[in-house]
Amino acid sequence: MATTTKKSTTKRAPSNGSALKPFKTLSNPDLRVYVGDCREVLPQIEEVQRSQVDLIFADPPFNWKRAYDKWDDDMPDDEYLRFTYDWLDLCVGALTDRGSMWVNIPDDWAAEIVVHLKSRGLHMVNWCIWHYRFGQNTSGRFINSKVHALYFAKSRKDRTFNTQDILEPSDRATTYFDPRTFNKKEGTSGMRLPMDVWYGKYWGRIQGNNAERRHNHDNQIPEVYLERVIRACSNEGDLVMDPFLGSGTTGLIAHELGRRAIGIEYSKDNAVSAFERIKAGPVRVKKDTPTVHTTAIFAPRNVGKKTKERLADQSRD
Ligand SMILES: C[S@@+](CC[C@H](N)C(=O)[O-])C[C@H]1O[C@@H](n2cnc3c(N)ncnc32)[C@H](O)[C@@H]1O
Repeated sequence: MATTTKKSTTKRAPSNGSALKPFKTLSNPDLRVYVGDCREVLPQIEEVQRSQVDLIFADPPFNWKRAYDKWDDDMPDDEYLRFTYDWLDLCVGALTDRGSMWVNIPDDWAAEIVVHLKSRGLHMVNWCIWHYRFGQNTSGRFINSKVHALYFAKSRKDRTFNTQDILEPSDRATTYFDPRTFNKKEGTSGMRLPMDVWYGKYWGRIQGNNAERRHNHDNQIPEVYLERVIRACSNEGDLVMDPFLGSGTTGLIAHELGRRAIGIEYSKDNAVSAFERIKAGPVRVKKDTPTVHTTAIFAPRNVGKKTKERLADQSRD
């Protein structure tokens, strides 16, 4: 395998942060929320100045004329791109040598961001798709049903990737009962890494996921999305940062999973709401019980009771 997985061995002392006073804080593990424009806040954060951020998840405004509480989501394209390149550059500079960065972005801007991050020396590890089924109806063009989840890393090989923490049942096991998938040697019997198109139970923003909904946050990302990113690309004690905190999903899941976290949000009201959510804890993600769901779309093949029993025994051995 091309990647290495190193669990954090050094326990870092809690930082007292930066010249800029955080708006809200939690401890154990440390969490800081800042209010302001991330382009102004980021350069004032000590860990950003020192390139000590292990993982960044960024879900910026898409320039879709959304009625954000404060932010103007309707810039001329060239201005939006300047804004985008500015925050991207600050984030690239904040990463550790083993650090990773994820950007959640629609079709409109994905290509520009990929080209820009490559030009800044980051390596593209995966171009994932978050498939959702709540896109607005259209006429004369297809309905939007995806956002790009771009996974970049400072180093292609020396980066955190915790395979064992994000496995899901393989279709070969759940649907086709293929004996080859029950191979114990790899420690992944009947399981595999998720594919690069993400969907399934609790991956919707609305359908099937109302329990997670926060009032006034129509851009909220599902908990399981951040669970996958954070479990895969960081270790306990690592520092996770989100420059566009919104309803707080990144801070919420990072905190639950024992990571330190920094979130920046332009709107004070959103920051208050995010902080309250983080304090209350996730609806479904729990540190000691990783979410494991099949994403198979076909009904299990009828292979007979005996074969199923034999394979079940084999996978328990
Ligand atoms: C797409 S939403 C993020 C949603 C978030 N991922 C969640 O799960 O709730 C973008 C957020 O970024 C905030 N924002 C916009 N421009 C910003 C900036 N320059 N600095 C910091 N926050 C900003 C908006 O107020 C909005 O809450």
